[in-house]
Amino acid sequence: MCVPLLQKIATNVKMLDKALEGGFAIGEVSLIYGEAETAKTTLAIQCAVSCARQGFKTFFIDCDGTFSARRLSQIASCDIEKVAELIILARPKSFKEQALVIDQSVNYITKGFGLVVVDTATFLYRVEVAENPDKTFELNRELNRQMALLAQTAKIRKVAALILSQVRSVFDEAYVDVEPVATRVLKFWANTIVAMKPTENPKVVKIIMEKKEKMTKPFSCYAEISEKGLCELPQQYEG
Ligand SMILES: Nc1ncnc2c1ncn2[C@@H]1O[C@H](COP(=O)(O)OP(=O)(O)OP(=O)(O)O)[C@@H](O)[C@H]1O
Ligand SMILES: [Mg+2]
Repeated sequence: MCVPLLQKIATNVKMLDKALEGGFAIGEVSLIYGEAETAKTTLAIQCAVSCARQGFKTFFIDCDGTFSARRLSQIASCDIEKVAELIILARPKSFKEQALVIDQSVNYITKGFGLVVVDTATFLYRVEVAENPDKTFELNRELNRQMALLAQTAKIRKVAALILSQVRSVFDEAYVDVEPVATRVLKFWANTIVAMKPTENPKVVKIIMEKKEKMTKPFSCYAEISEKGLCELPQQYEG
């Protein structure tokens, strides 16, 4: 039997895929971070759809409970039946449960998987830090351990690991100290970092490549959030 070879995981935002030389790399950790409603989940769903179109499964760890079947069907369009079968959803309800899911992922992600998504990696962590501010140091260590494990899983199982993180404005006092530490932890493990920035138009985001192996020049593009998902805008679009 001929086993298809897994290519990179395309985002289906053309300019971004070009900058990523085809998409997010297998065996590596990629981080997508940005403020609320900047289409991070939309982009992750697009990756799961393009992974499914190559015939590979996605293990989608939906930590903030925002994965929507409706959004998936809008993005997958006529492929929805084939695609839906290849997306396996986990919904941890606490940071402890998130740890258990990630601990088990190396055993769970076997042949046939191409992608693991953690959306949003810092959501349950934040809840835990808010409830136990005196345990921030241990919780940071735990977040770091989970990221290390995901990096290892990506390498061993030859899948792409996509970590999503929401950042808030630095003026948000409650997170002023915690936020940068968690973001630093996630950035440390990421081979590729993509930042999503809001623009004056709520339906348009700016995508900035912050880190990528052998990146020679800075990259950014604009994309529009629509019914079909995130679609790039012409290169000459200027916010
Ligand atoms: N069918 C649709 N048509 C147009 N826009 C949509 C549709 N479905 C969702 N959106 C919009 O897409 C935007 C991005 O949503 P998404 O959940 O991907 O953002 P996010 O960055 O993951 O947000 P968060 O930080 O809250 O997790 C939202 O403003 C949402 O209203
Ligand atoms: Mg989201």
